[in-house]
Amino acid sequence: MTKVTVLGAAGGIGQPLSLLLKMCPFVSTLALYDLRLAAGVARDLSHVNTNAHCIGYGKDELPDALMGAQVVVIPAGVPRKPGMTRDDLFRVNAGIVAQLVAACAEHCPNARILVISNPVNSTVPVACETLRRLGKFQPGRVMGVTTLDVVRAQTFLSDALGPQQYSRESMKKHVTVVGGHSGTTIVPVILNPTLAQKLVHRKLWDAYVQRVQFGGDEVVQAKQGAGSATLSMALAGYYFAEQVLRSIHHEAPDALLPCYVYLPGLPGGRELQARLGTQVEYFAAPVRMDRGVVVHVESEWTEKVTPQERKMLDVCVQELDANVRKGKRFVQSKL
Ligand code: NAI
Repeated sequence: MTKVTVLGAAGGIGQPLSLLLKMCPFVSTLALYDLRLAAGVARDLSHVNTNAHCIGYGKDELPDALMGAQVVVIPAGVPRKPGMTRDDLFRVNAGIVAQLVAACAEHCPNARILVISNPVNSTVPVACETLRRLGKFQPGRVMGVTTLDVVRAQTFLSDALGPQQYSRESMKKHVTVVGGHSGTTIVPVILNPTLAQKLVHRKLWDAYVQRVQFGGDEVVQAKQGAGSATLSMALAGYYFAEQVLRSIHHEAPDALLPCYVYLPGLPGGRELQARLGTQVEYFAAPVRMDRGVVVHVESEWTEKVTPQERKMLDVCVQELDANVRKGKRFVQSKL
């Protein structure tokens, strides 16, 4: 029996993500919390003929929504409009994440917390530092969701190489994405050297990297002020939540997806820092889980890194460091 709670469930990401979770055989109770419309979304989903029991919770019902939750997914917050960076969202979303995570510390202290709200590079440090202040921080249980970058990296690699010959499905094992979740902190790493050489040889690598790093802007512009990626994000968020749920239910993962985690607190974290030659505290990398908790941060992928990718990693860690400090400063300012 697994209870999953979605915070921000009536939003553009929250609704389709909740639908996907309602379809998931590992979910027995689906608690949908939002400041608005949660009851309506839950009633709608409760008519879907799958087993998960679906309940909506409004503004004043956060404790009930969280009670007994094993997994909490947080897409609550404001999305980007054209011309905005993810960092522009920080002021509003940091406060929302801090408040929601503090409630998790009180009502479901052992839940796995999956942070979707942007800017992930800073909201995850906000979440971790808030929990640390409350004496409830368990590094393996807080994960920033960066799966959309992986989904995009696979799709765009297939597009660049020619989808007839290189199907999107087949790209899953050939590329991962590490670092962070905004602009130049997003570092796609092509694990298959033949494909990497093909891209470079055809002079497509720069455009490919640019599209992975700034693909979110395509969606923000096309939606003309109505928000950022919601449908592709819901699916990406579901892929990651499913990896957590599979692990809780002792099922082997399909693939080791990356997420954005606190390195010093996790096995493999210090080794990864050493391999990257950096002290950066938070970083997205493929992880191993046990019972839905991160138990090891992988670093074998560093052996496949090309000199160009290595340069990108150097830029990435500098920017990440500033993003992390911003998150930590936010929590300290509340002391
Ligand atoms: P949205 O505005 O459609 O939905 C957000 C929902 O959060 C709304 O229903 C709102 O009522 C709710 N909300 C706001 N404050 C809340 C609180 N204190 N408690 C509970 N619910 C609250 O936004 P959308 O498009 O769903 O995006 C949500 C977040 O996800 C944004 O921060 C966005 O930037 C981020 N995002 C993250 C991605 C990632 O890859 N990690 C990709 C795309 C978006």
